[in-house]
Amino acid sequence: MIIVVIGAQWGDEGKGKIVDLLAERFDVVARYQGGHNAGHSVQVGSSSFVLHLLPSGIVHPGKTCVLGNGMVIDPKAFFDEADRLAAQGISVTPERVLVSTRAHLILPYHRALDHTSEERLGNEKVGTTLRGIGPAYEDKAGRRGIRVADAVVPSVLRSRIERNLEDANRIIVAYGGEALDPDEIFSETSRLAERLAPFIADTTRYMNRAAREGRTILIEGAQATLLDVDHGTYPFVTSSTTTAGGACTGTGLAPHRITGVLGIVRTYTTRVGEGPFPTEMLKGEEELGQLIRERGREYGASTGRPRRCGWFDAFATRYAAEINGFTSVALTKLDVLDALDEIKVCVGYRLDGREIDSFPAVSQDLRRVEPMYATLPGWKSSTEGVTDADKLPSKARDYIEFLSREIGVEIGLVSTGPERGQTIIYGDSALGRWLST
Ligand code: IMP
Repeated sequence: MIIVVIGAQWGDEGKGKIVDLLAERFDVVARYQGGHNAGHSVQVGSSSFVLHLLPSGIVHPGKTCVLGNGMVIDPKAFFDEADRLAAQGISVTPERVLVSTRAHLILPYHRALDHTSEERLGNEKVGTTLRGIGPAYEDKAGRRGIRVADAVVPSVLRSRIERNLEDANRIIVAYGGEALDPDEIFSETSRLAERLAPFIADTTRYMNRAAREGRTILIEGAQATLLDVDHGTYPFVTSSTTTAGGACTGTGLAPHRITGVLGIVRTYTTRVGEGPFPTEMLKGEEELGQLIRERGREYGASTGRPRRCGWFDAFATRYAAEINGFTSVALTKLDVLDALDEIKVCVGYRLDGREIDSFPAVSQDLRRVEPMYATLPGWKSSTEGVTDADKLPSKARDYIEFLSREIGVEIGLVSTGPERGQTIIYGDSALGRWLST
């Protein structure tokens, strides 16, 4: 069984908890794209973990964690995270963490270029996490990237750093920054590469062997569908394939190996960074937005930025369901809506007065669309910690059914709080079956 888990919106849907819940049933947990721009919060009992680079499976002893070839890895961030986890009693050892030889490295000049690029864009900036993700993927596509396997060959590492830094420094200096020193970057990277060496593996071979041997694999997406470099709200996106197709290219597993795709969908929508957001709670709804932000603790796990909050967007989520082929959906943060009198759901978009049926490709159009809302009554009672669907207020059940109908996918799970146990699982769903095998 190989399951891919994907966020359906702009990220922060609560994947961390769901992946953590699923991880118990799986032998291997892998990531396939992105880097330490992700921020997955996992709550286990009274301990809370924030993961940026490592798959959420790391908090489960005995699970193998794979950082796939599609990722961009900052070796310093890797060891900072490993050290933080070690202080919390979680050991990140080469026996259980494999880093792909083919993943690309994020080096200090990528971070500097991320800053420069955002400054150059001014008002049009993307609002990136400034972790160097975009510039590292630019180098990958430009065929000048430095891969993990290159880092342990000093002569290769030195010559690539020197060559790349020549160009990078020109841009950094032209925009008022300070030139970076190739010797310093080389010696720091070599030191980190030495420490990384025991973790480096041919993860493609490992994943395919695990699949052949019938081991269960959970493939964890980071960021989310609408941040996908092809299908997302370009150019306000991240630089990788966050959608389900990326799970194959980013791990080296063939498409027919995938058993199913689980969409993580939150009962409302948020977005960090810039870019169009049709259902954002703006004029006249700022207070509601603030209420959701506080109740849902909607502050970036990576950057601490307050997240922009908005109503559930069924139109965008239908689009996400189609691209990813969601087999089942986990609906998160139901309890955050407990306090609302009424709940709006965007069921369609109008552009220039006409209803449209395809998700706008041009971000200016997406800024102009008028969401068409259905209004549902709130349930005004606590759903926190409910574990049995029959114990939910009937209006909360109606809301869940409405969302499922609108996005055209079954709901396999509803999350009613941050802890593992605060979950309703629908046993007759595909997700229910995956969890019971
Ligand atoms: P980058 O991935 O740092 O290049 O940022 C590109 C866009 O993706 C920005 O709008 C970020 O706020 C957004 N982004 C990146 N990672 C995450 C995440 O884990 N959750 C939500 N948004 C993210």
